[in-house]
Amino acid sequence: MITENNKMVDLVHRNYNLIPVLNRFGIALGFGDKTIREVCEEKGLNLPFFLEIINSFLDDEYFPREHLISFPLRLIVDYLTRTHQDYLEKRIPEIEAIISSREEACYEKEEHNFLLLKFFREYKEELILHIRREDEQVFPYALGIEKLYHEMDSRSIKPDEIPRYSIMDYLREHDNIEEKLFDLKNIIIKYLPPPRNPEACFRVIAMLFDLEKDMNDHSRIEEKVLVPKVAVMEQKLRQPEGPDKSRRS
Ligand SMILES: [Fe+2]
Ligand SMILES: [Fe+2]
Repeated sequence: MITENNKMVDLVHRNYNLIPVLNRFGIALGFGDKTIREVCEEKGLNLPFFLEIINSFLDDEYFPREHLISFPLRLIVDYLTRTHQDYLEKRIPEIEAIISSREEACYEKEEHNFLLLKFFREYKEELILHIRREDEQVFPYALGIEKLYHEMDSRSIKPDEIPRYSIMDYLREHDNIEEKLFDLKNIIIKYLPPPRNPEACFRVIAMLFDLEKDMNDHSRIEEKVLVPKVAVMEQKLRQPEGPDKSRRS
């Protein structure tokens, strides 16, 4: 497990896929021998939150759910939103640039290059819709619930102030966007013919694998951290006089 005394450089040596995660926290390479604590202090970052995100990324089994849930929702939502921006503004355009490049075309026949680009763009459209829904509806809803929840300390909340939507609706409809990425990889690995440009093809596959790993971690934070945290607040808003009166989780 990573602790605050580990050096930043060791994090990256352990898994270079953490570089984009660090970027989301505003941490760029070039950190010399500084420890995690030193870098977080310098950047004014919430150290325990940073450690939880890093540890959950490095180890799928590591899930200090209770602990992560205790952070302000704003921290979690900001991290998820920056991850969305990273996907749409960097990762997807980088992959698309290779797939659509004439010089780096993976396949001999134009029809195969076209097919790959077509599947990729279909995936991109789905991802854009998925992210837009979260950014424009789900996250603002979750922050609104947290605001009401805090207001319970100073005033009574009327039932009609609580939206009818529930975070469980989101969980039910939360489609598995990383699974579709798996299908996209299989188009290249299984169904298209051997590439004319194996190096470009390998770069695309490597980027898709890295993106898939990142998305798995991202969805886990949405489903295992964001959803339970909001669900607890919803429940306490709807049953303020319930058996559990200790409202703070
Ligand atoms: Fe998301
Ligand atoms: Fe999602």
